[in-house]
Amino acid sequence: RPRVLSGIQPTSGSFHLGNYLGAVRQWVAQQDTHDAFYMVVDLHALTVTQDPEALRANSRFAAAQLLATGLDPERCTVFVQSHVPEHAQLSWVLNCLTGFGEASRMTQFKDKSGKHGADRTTVGLFTYPVLMAADILLYQSDQVPVGGDQRQHLELTRALAERFNGRYGDTFKVPDAFIVKETARITDLQDPTLKMSKSSSTPKGIINLLDEPKTSAKKIKSAVTDTGTEIRYDEENKPGLSNLLTIYSALTDTDIAELEQRYEGKGYGALKTDLAEILVEWVTPFRRRTQEYLDDPETLDSVLAKGAEKARAVAAETLAQVYERVGFLAAK
Ligand code: TYM
Repeated sequence: RPRVLSGIQPTSGSFHLGNYLGAVRQWVAQQDTHDAFYMVVDLHALTVTQDPEALRANSRFAAAQLLATGLDPERCTVFVQSHVPEHAQLSWVLNCLTGFGEASRMTQFKDKSGKHGADRTTVGLFTYPVLMAADILLYQSDQVPVGGDQRQHLELTRALAERFNGRYGDTFKVPDAFIVKETARITDLQDPTLKMSKSSSTPKGIINLLDEPKTSAKKIKSAVTDTGTEIRYDEENKPGLSNLLTIYSALTDTDIAELEQRYEGKGYGALKTDLAEILVEWVTPFRRRTQEYLDDPETLDSVLAKGAEKARAVAAETLAQVYERVGFLAAK
């Protein structure tokens, strides 16, 4: 079975619809076709200021949500990044292989650091993509299921794997990004030129999966669309409507062409009302399941402990090989 690995940040409570449709939905499908490793990336979260208690709580929230989406610890490995110290260890080695200019070209760093200003931007944020490369390469991953915004980080990961292999001999598998074109970029409901995102979306533009279903339904109904009436997928001229069609199509596994037919002559209001209802039907059991995991900390802890143990076995093997190849003295 080919191996997949991916991660998600434990940020402020709830995943959003972009996280789910762009990434986590694929993780659920791949647990039956792949040897799958999925993690809560708390080391990455630390690249911006975090309240310690909030970070701890958010990591539990994230793990509970992953299980609530349908990840089954019997069929895949779910763990927390900081439980596997090899991530930070490999990251250092890869930092020493990454060009300063190369890291400076990462567009996500440029976007995020621009917001904070030079002195409030941490070195951690700068080397964030290198840590991500370490995450991926430790597990000899074949594929990495992510949203489109991670594409450049995957290119860096491939470059680092090839560089290491070229310098020290074949060590890492060179992984491929697995990006589903249709859902690679779910956009903000109020400004369809923006990606739906915790850091840039306004509250009305983002669907948080743990919000009151009524609130989410309202946001769908008040999503910005153009002034036309024809239900047709057209990213350029009808970006808001196209985003709603994408969401509808993904949540119901229906082709967009079929939706266009179904809503012929019906207008945007009908589509929004139906989509709001579909979303409510999806989030209601999701919220209940998340709460069940949060109410049962022993089960959650034991899933994460087992996950960390399985992950560590793989990660330790790769790291030992790397340490030997780069010339570190063996610890006796
Ligand atoms: P993060 O936590 O920002 O997002 C988690 C996943 O959600 C995807 N995503 C989206 N997809 C479509 N439309 C959107 N609007 C949208 N917003 C977010 C992201 O692409 C991502 O797949 N660096 C990563 C976490 C990470 C990782 C890794 C991923 C750390 N190590 C190793 C893969 C492998 C991140 O911050 O994702």
